[in-house]
Amino acid sequence: MSKRLYGIAVVGFGGMGSQHINLLRGMPEFFITGICDIDSQRKEIAGAQGLPVYVDFKTVVYDPNASIVLIATPNHLHKENRTELQEMIKAVELSQRIFVVHQNRRWDEDFLAIQKINDENIIGDIFHLESRVHGSRGIPVTCVRKRSTVAA
Ligand SMILES: NC(=O)c1ccc[n+]([C@@H]2O[C@H](COP(=O)([O-])OP(=O)(O)OC[C@H]3O[C@@H](n4cnc5c(N)ncnc54)[C@H](O)[C@@H]3O)[C@@H](O)[C@H]2O)c1
Repeated sequence: MSKRLYGIAVVGFGGMGSQHINLLRGMPEFFITGICDIDSQRKEIAGAQGLPVYVDFKTVVYDPNASIVLIATPNHLHKENRTELQEMIKAVELSQRIFVVHQNRRWDEDFLAIQKINDENIIGDIFHLESRVHGSRGIPVTCVRKRSTVAA
């Protein structure tokens, strides 16, 4: 049996947070150190599933078992501009941690097809492009577009 190496804390136990946890449960390299959410109902659901529940975000940050923190909070909590991004980059440098933005849509079939067309200059200079993923509440759903298995 493979050794579990990375403890991972999930912040935001909503649709995506719980989906990530379900997938992580099948990966022997990871174990879930706990979830962090501000919604008491979500905390109860996590507890009922046997997941440890953090008291607050600070306890996540100071948990020595959590090598990875996965943030799955709603869009309105995301950083919005370049200045804030610079602040984040500075914080990353200071803490000497790795920071990764989850850009999984870059592996969708349509995105990859357009990228190929552009890279190979098949239709010349692209000056306008529209692409949409429609889902509930304006949030993308994975079933709308088929994910590429080739590029993963
Ligand atoms: N890349 C993709 O394919 C994809 C697909 C769906 C959603 N998303 C993104 O994932 C993110 C989460 O979406 P979702 O559908 O899971 O939303 P959701 O509303 O279902 O879940 C968000 C959870 O975060 C919790 N939360 C809110 N504020 C918090 C805080 N300060 N601290 C801790 N927890 C907090 C909420 O209580 C909720 O349980 C969004 O940014 C969304 O755009 C990405």
